[in-house]
Amino acid sequence: MANHRSAVFLDRDGTLIEDGGVPGNPEDIRLFPDTIDALRQLQKRHRLFVVTNQPGIAESRVTVNQVAAVNNSLDGMLQREGVKIEEWYVCPHAGRDQCRCIGPNPTFLLQAAKDHELDLMRSFVIGDHPHDISTGEAAGAFGLYLLTGHGPKHLDELPPDRLVFHTLGDAAGWILKHPNAERDLSRAVQAGAEAIRRGGLVAFPTETVYGLGADAVNTDAVARIFEVKGRPLHNPLIVHVADRRQVRPLAASLSETAQRLMERFWPGPLTLVLPKLPIVPDIVTAGNATVAVRMPANKWARDLINLSQTPIAAPSANAFGRTSPTTARHVEDQLRGAYDVLVDGGACRVGVESTVLSLVRETPLLLRPGGVSREDIEELIGGIQVIHHQNITENRHESPGMMSSHYAPSTPLLLVDDIDSYAQRSDIGVILFQNPAIFFRSPTAVLSPRGDLREAAANLYQIMRKLDDMGLRLIVAQRVPNSGLGAAINDRLNKATLQSSPSADSQE
Ligand code: TXA
Ligand code: MG
Repeated sequence: MANHRSAVFLDRDGTLIEDGGVPGNPEDIRLFPDTIDALRQLQKRHRLFVVTNQPGIAESRVTVNQVAAVNNSLDGMLQREGVKIEEWYVCPHAGRDQCRCIGPNPTFLLQAAKDHELDLMRSFVIGDHPHDISTGEAAGAFGLYLLTGHGPKHLDELPPDRLVFHTLGDAAGWILKHPNAERDLSRAVQAGAEAIRRGGLVAFPTETVYGLGADAVNTDAVARIFEVKGRPLHNPLIVHVADRRQVRPLAASLSETAQRLMERFWPGPLTLVLPKLPIVPDIVTAGNATVAVRMPANKWARDLINLSQTPIAAPSANAFGRTSPTTARHVEDQLRGAYDVLVDGGACRVGVESTVLSLVRETPLLLRPGGVSREDIEELIGGIQVIHHQNITENRHESPGMMSSHYAPSTPLLLVDDIDSYAQRSDIGVILFQNPAIFFRSPTAVLSPRGDLREAAANLYQIMRKLDDMGLRLIVAQRVPNSGLGAAINDRLNKATLQSSPSADSQE
């Protein structure tokens, strides 16, 4: 097997081309912008195969011949660009009852391995549906899930420890850096844990955003976080734990409310502010008598904490006041190696920071809206109070981090309700919540084509960065519905406007 080659098995619709229903015609083919480049990169090291498990065939919505026509045409397009697909596998079943192609049925992969002398254990599968991933894994390959196509819609069905990526190009980049996926990833986590134990800094993925972590009880190590980020010392850090027992030595008491919240929302994007014990250094809490703790849902974050054998203090891994990173590339771009180890765990599934809830007073106080919605919290523990930006000066000790603007791109940003009135402007960038009903002349980016707040949250920072990099004079963002994750999205967009405060006359 050692000399056998490795392969990448690619789903077609939603992975190589846009998924606009069931493409029955070559004219329906729409490549993603980075498809060609990603495949060119991948084929330097791996053989490429396309697996078109078309449920449309089984459901008689499209014929085997139509699928073949699309494949032939796409193959021609790729060949002209210098991309070679070794085989195009198509589900041949004409009726639902015989079709076992949906679900973990690795027949095609096993066939390919035999015909092309492949080592499946060193191979990869890329797709935008959980069954692409489970099919690959059933054959021993490593699965990478895309948030293109149907990816966002079925994300809930994907096991929590699988890697997700915004684009095919991002997934290809990860594969090339991690030829032995499992081993390379766990080695990075081990190297990270060693660095944490030595007092170093580690950038690591969580389900919300990437964190820049240090041993929470090592004052010097934590001080380096502030240094590297340029973060003011009066803004305290969240302490990340791998399980609930790890909270005991940090917090003076755990109310029944705290325990119920942990039971329900941990691991996950909820940070609890609790009375602290002396073991937590002042630098972590900015001298406050409270400590913020959270147990991330991301498996590698928890592995890192476990192997480090210490809780990890970590803010988001961006330069202070700038957009939070939701991919490893974002971290590299901003912090430029100012850490000992970067664990690349793909894109963050939630995409906005954790909800911060203070439990030190009689009534819980929401300090920052985030990945767990206020509605979900209130359903469990009843009414909570919400901090208002106007009152922050009064509450500055309770909400130390909310004084300054955060999450900001360098292009001025404006948050508006009437986005349609900007449709004729060609000199600005526009962030839309969902696919617009009217035509926009300006460069636009859509947070969630189908208007889903969770998808919008997962795309938010990525899209803010993309528009920020276009060198526009102004970005105008549409306010999203304020329920559920929408409150966190609007909060971040609003904070992004504070940095630059574009005045009315700067917009013509
Ligand atoms: O999702 C997240 O929370 C990410 C990932 C890395 O876990 N972390 C994050 O950290 O967003 P950071 O440092 O960017 O934001 C921490 C927030 C700040 O608003 C800070 O003021 C608040 O938590 N915080 C931390 N300790 C606190 C305390 N003792 N009392 C009140 N607020 C606190
Ligand atoms: Mg931050």
